[in-house]
Amino acid sequence: MTAFSELETEKMRDRVARQLARSRARSTALTDAVDDHDLIRQHSKLMSPLVWDFAHIGNQEELWLVRDVGGRDPVRQDIDDMYDAFQNARADRPSLPLLSPTETRSYVQEVRDKVMDVLASTPLEGRKLVENAFAFGMIVQHEQQHNETMLATHQLRTGDPVLHAPLPPAPPGPVINREILIPAGPFTMGTSVEPWALDNERPAHQVPVDAFVIDKYPVTNAMYLEFVTSGGYDQQQWWSEDGWAYRQKAGLAAPRFWVRDGDRWLRNGFGAVEPLVLDEPVVHVCFYEAEAFAAWAGKRLPTEAEWEKAARFDPATGRSRRYPWGDEDPGPEHANLGQAHLRPARIGAYPQGESAFGVAQMIGDVWEWTSSDFHAYPGFVAFPYREYSEVFFGPDYKMLRGGSFGADAAACRGTFRNWDYPIRRQIFSGFRLARDPRPDELR
Ligand SMILES: [Fe+2]
Repeated sequence: MTAFSELETEKMRDRVARQLARSRARSTALTDAVDDHDLIRQHSKLMSPLVWDFAHIGNQEELWLVRDVGGRDPVRQDIDDMYDAFQNARADRPSLPLLSPTETRSYVQEVRDKVMDVLASTPLEGRKLVENAFAFGMIVQHEQQHNETMLATHQLRTGDPVLHAPLPPAPPGPVINREILIPAGPFTMGTSVEPWALDNERPAHQVPVDAFVIDKYPVTNAMYLEFVTSGGYDQQQWWSEDGWAYRQKAGLAAPRFWVRDGDRWLRNGFGAVEPLVLDEPVVHVCFYEAEAFAAWAGKRLPTEAEWEKAARFDPATGRSRRYPWGDEDPGPEHANLGQAHLRPARIGAYPQGESAFGVAQMIGDVWEWTSSDFHAYPGFVAFPYREYSEVFFGPDYKMLRGGSFGADAAACRGTFRNWDYPIRRQIFSGFRLARDPRPDELR
């Protein structure tokens, strides 16, 4: 247990309040952008109606912060089951007697008002759930994760564009895509000290990693287009058995949201159809597509440990950084995060965000598929509940690292782990290539 001074506790409360407000501003923008009809309807069987996400955000906030942390009376106990993600599959959510958009907005506001009162009056120590304001941090990250899911729903929505954002920064100079050798040696993976890290990121532990080579940048649309036009989707030899079966069944021919226009490809971004930006990271590919592309290119995907070592390890100090660029929280100069731009940035756009090894754009832009399954780190302890991570451990899920332009800074630590099914393509997922070094590179 840590004893905090009054000043430190006040600073922590301020930080929580700012983050809660930021997440809520995003939820509000994503739900105010469309009319009630679009809030209620299901834009894809893969997604919830936007109004379900918003009320679910409020309900989780009520369960954890109003009732558990605050010990207050329930606001709306009668709706708990309806907004429990484990009890209701996404496909079934539209047929529930959901709160209307107006009821949803007033419910989440009522919960938030109580939470601000709980935040002001709860000592942030004495109980693991509230130390370092963990429960508040968990709820902030929960809302941000749903903001990313809601953004994916917007991408699946048909109709005129309703979301607008400035372009990401352009690369400040000439860009040379190259491979970077990461020498063999152990590094510290995960964290035991990051206050808002979730259970699956813990504890910090040493992992031996053989030498490997990784690309400085994620795979771009230009690189991926070559795979598409050279017939990669029709050549079984690049695909794993499961990957080929899925490619056949789903009729995959290009990344999700690419649109064929005669002999060229366009892409649909939130309803705006435009030519591919060739030096942007490819997005909306599933694990199987990433794996096939890597085989076609004579390479492979990095393991999760390789990805994290390339991102965090500083060979000068022998320690792992919080982020690729250092221990500083992400700023707009480091990474494309927080739905500020609504598309990946062109490669080379964030030289200040490079890791100690010079690997670039690891945080933000696109989630990066790795070759690893979801497993517990040695010493894992489920917290605060088994359903957060533990029930997902196993070979069904593949790990994604780094965060996308749709993910928020507060949930994109260098240790943050995301997982999804290998067939998922509506998420903001891309990838980066790795390979084993040649003997001459190790001399
Ligand atoms: Fe949730």
